Order: sequence, then structure tokens, then C-alpha cells
Amino acid sequence: MRENKRDIITLREFDKEEILYILHSALKISQESEPLLKSHIISTLFFEPSTRTRTSFQTAALRLGASVNGFDSSSGISVQKGENFSDTIRMMEYYSDCLVIRSPHDGAAKLASTLSSKPVINAGDGVNQHPSQTLLDLYTILEEKQTLENLEIACVGDLKNGRTVHSLIEALKHFSPKLYFIAPESLQIPQKYLEKLDNLKISYELHSEFESTLENYDVLYMTRVQKERFDSEVEYEKVAHSFQLTKENIVGKCKSDMMILHPLPRIEEIARDLDDTPHAFYFKQAGNGIPIRKAMLALVLGKYSKLEAKNSDVVEINTDFKCHNARCISNVKTEYVAHRAIIKSGNKQCFFCEK
Ligand code: CP
Repeated sequence: MRENKRDIITLREFDKEEILYILHSALKISQESEPLLKSHIISTLFFEPSTRTRTSFQTAALRLGASVNGFDSSSGISVQKGENFSDTIRMMEYYSDCLVIRSPHDGAAKLASTLSSKPVINAGDGVNQHPSQTLLDLYTILEEKQTLENLEIACVGDLKNGRTVHSLIEALKHFSPKLYFIAPESLQIPQKYLEKLDNLKISYELHSEFESTLENYDVLYMTRVQKERFDSEVEYEKVAHSFQLTKENIVGKCKSDMMILHPLPRIEEIARDLDDTPHAFYFKQAGNGIPIRKAMLALVLGKYSKLEAKNSDVVEINTDFKCHNARCISNVKTEYVAHRAIIKSGNKQCFFCEK
């Protein structure tokens, strides 16, 4: 691994100034006609399905003059013959200048960053983090509201399994928000995020319905119930139809400039009749994946300006620590992964999935 490279694995590693710098870089790079990544190769290594993230990273790379290689699922690659994640990453770095990785396993991008000498960008790891999604979410809010400060933001839906909300919290904590977490009890936001907000004295409320607080929101961030994270169809069906935003239950009942965001794909949680209202920003939001991902690629490759490398985690290798998260990459069949812990305030957390 190259010590001074900068990866983008989680927004926890970025301070407020750096987040704003990426957002402002995205605006400038979107107006740039220079092929900043000419003769570079970007690899999109997607072990889990994607429409927006993969194609917008690819489009961003192509627009900057780079070439693209990679794969869009585990089914057409040698993982099918038994090759493990670590070997795939170790080898792919010879074919690429930057690895953009999506995996169903928490901590996969972090593991890849330790194996690769090339910059790694996390394009979504299990239920953990999705930093490029958050940056484009913030870009969309900033574009419309002209500020990220002091907004009242409701996150609605599957807050347990939805990595986009987990990532969003890591960034919003810098901007003094008031947060509302609206979910059925079994899908509420994990305690570790609430503890983080408590420590930072950021105000939040937990609810099981959105109607009673709807008129407070500046942004309603809707999410899909993540069917693929459930153990069975029966369990999924118990909560699958918990919420639906419709013209009838939104328009005239919220602030006139309330934005509805959604990382997409949507299933039924936003009715089609909202699409043509002034509240609907979710397709524009998906479009903003291009300027944000252009900026991320140019910045990690040092072709616009450089994000400085940071490594503030204290890491223990091969301790008696064993990650308790069954979804963590360190608990998947990866023979070359030693369990590692980050030591924070005397407590141990998994180095890969941070649980
Ligand atoms: N928002 C998002 O991650 O969409 P995809 O799964 O289609 O990439």
C-alpha cells in the first residue's frame, strides 16, 4: 500500500472544510473542459448490483478523458471459480489507476484500501457507508438551499440497513442539523449513530410516522426498505409497506420549499404523482452524481488538487479481537484478512467495518 495515497472510504475521515472543498471542486470541475484524467484507467469493481453509482462513476471518468474497465457483478468473474476478494483486488491494481468498489460486505472498501497501492473509492459497502452518495446528496441540498447549516432533515424508511443514511450522518454532523429519524422500530437508526449525535450535542427525534413533524422539515430524505438485507421474504413483508409519500399526504402539508431526496432505486415509497411537484429532487440528485464523482476521481488522483493522506486510527493487528459483525468482510471467506481493531478511547472497534 502506498502510504501517502488518499482513499475515500467513509466521510468520518473528512472534516467540514474538506467536505465543502469537494463540493466546491465538483462545481468547478463540472465547468472544466480539460481532460484531467487523460491516459488514466478507472476500474469499477462492483460485486453487488448498481445502476446509478456504477454508470455515473464511469460517465464521470469518461468525461474527464479516462478509460474504464471492471465488472458489474460477481457472476462473470473468477470469484465464481473460488477466487477471493483479496486476490481480486491485489491483481486489479495492476490494471488500473483507481479502484471504485461496491460490495455486499461491510468494510470491503477499507480492506481493499489496505491491499492496493492505488486510490480506492468506496461505492457502497454492505449496510455500512456510501460516501459518494452523501456528497451528491449534500451537493443537491447546497445547490437548492445555498447552505447546509441549521437545516431540519428527516430520514425516513429503512434506517437500519440503509447505508446512505449512515453516511449522511457522518457529514451532516458538521452542519448543526436538527434530525428526525422516522422508521418502524425494527428498522430504526443503529444506536452507534445516536451515540455519536449525543456526543456532539446534535438534536434529533425518533418517530414511527412522519405526518406529525412534516411541517418542520427542510429536507425529507426517503429510503427504500432494503429487501436484500433481510433473512426472509416474510420478515421483509412485515415492514415493506411502512411508508408511502404521495401528493395527497405531502403537498400543502409541508414547507413550500421542502425538498424530497431519495438515493434511488425507489420501489413504492414515493408515489409517481409526486414526481412533477416542486418537492421532487431525486432525479436531479442522481444527475449530480456526475460532477461529484468527477471531483472525487480527480482529487484522489491528484489531478485537480490533492486531498492530503490521513491516517489517525490506531490499529492493532492479530490481536485477540474478533469482529462480531457477521456481514463484515473480515468474517467472510478471505484467507488473507487478519482481524484488526481500532483503539478509540480505550475501546476496540473493527478496523474494517467500524462496529
Ligand atoms: N443510489 C445508489 O447507490 O443507486 P445504485 O444502487 O443504483 O448505484
